Amino acid sequence: QANERESLYLVSEYASSYFQKILHNTDKGKSIGLSYFKERGFTDETIKKFALGYSLDEWQAFTDEALKQAYKLEFLEKTGLTIVKGEKRFDRFKGRVMFPIQSMSGRVLGFGGRILTNDKKAAKYLNSPESDIYHKSKVLYGIYQAKQSIAKEDNCYLVEGYTDVIQFHQTGVHNVVSSSGTALTPEQIRLINRLTKNITVLFDGDAAGLRASLRGIDLILEQGMNVKICTFPAGEDPDSFAKQNTFEELTAYLTENAQDFIQFKASVLYEESKNDPIKKAETIRDIVNSIAKIPDRIKKEIYIQECSRIMDISEQVLFTTLAQIDKKDF
Ligand code: CTP
Ligand code: MN
Ligand code: MN
Ligand code: MN
Ligand code: MN
Repeated sequence: QANERESLYLVSEYASSYFQKILHNTDKGKSIGLSYFKERGFTDETIKKFALGYSLDEWQAFTDEALKQAYKLEFLEKTGLTIVKGEKRFDRFKGRVMFPIQSMSGRVLGFGGRILTNDKKAAKYLNSPESDIYHKSKVLYGIYQAKQSIAKEDNCYLVEGYTDVIQFHQTGVHNVVSSSGTALTPEQIRLINRLTKNITVLFDGDAAGLRASLRGIDLILEQGMNVKICTFPAGEDPDSFAKQNTFEELTAYLTENAQDFIQFKASVLYEESKNDPIKKAETIRDIVNSIAKIPDRIKKEIYIQECSRIMDISEQVLFTTLAQIDKKDF
């Protein structure tokens, strides 16, 4: 099936260059798509670096052009670029600005497309469906543009969205990737693990789902990586924050506010449960569960001591809980 996969790559790469051509070289692309990106503060250099594009607000403008260029409907459908209903064909990304999702080596695997309005009824972002070349759980947005910098800085920032990655780059912080709104997977962590052992997770200031996200981070600990957490002021996300600040201000903020994950989690859990004994018992198990994921024995011990202090629980209780969890795991 190597041939079929290659055909999917080729049609995706064609689509990416088509959407860029529409953005830069047509009146509608310029007045609608390009002005949207400019309003968000993206420069031409940034727009080109991330190969951003625009899909016309017409039912099948892209599909017609692709067919005219002899790309097969079969592959247009399999990549999800075209939706086929009986005799009718529809452009999936009609009227959206386009963010191509690239592999580690820069091949186009799929797309995210954002609506330009603030219509609450339509999905803000639409993404390519899974295909033989696009597996959501195995890709990280921005990894192609970030890989060298991640290795060089020996740290990787993990953000929620496409625009967070892009705005960080423009502000001069290049070691950043996004899981694009989905829960982090072990495969995605392995991609980072090949480049660095250090991850700093950046959360949107809305803190929606912070608790749920904290659970996903255990997967990073399991791979023996060091995790830090950094939050942003209420109402800000990494994109809006970076946009308002210089490189020096942004890096200073990240350095000053990045906190060790276990310490962060212990503090959050302590605040939540300090006045509620039943909840406190739950939180002890929760934090020790995270510590149990850390492969290194010495680190485990140090964290138990730290948590004992932060959560005001005896080390003895934490060690006993750890021993119980370790036993269940083997
Ligand atoms: N996302 C998605 N579908 C949605 C909403 C979000 O796929 N309907 C994904 C996108 O990858 C998005 C990420 O989740 O980038 C984070 O969501 P959110 O913080 O809401 O979006 P932003 O990236 O901040 O989007 P914007 O600034 O363009 O509003
Ligand atoms: Mn497959
Ligand atoms: Mn968000
Ligand atoms: Mn956001
Ligand atoms: Mn945003």
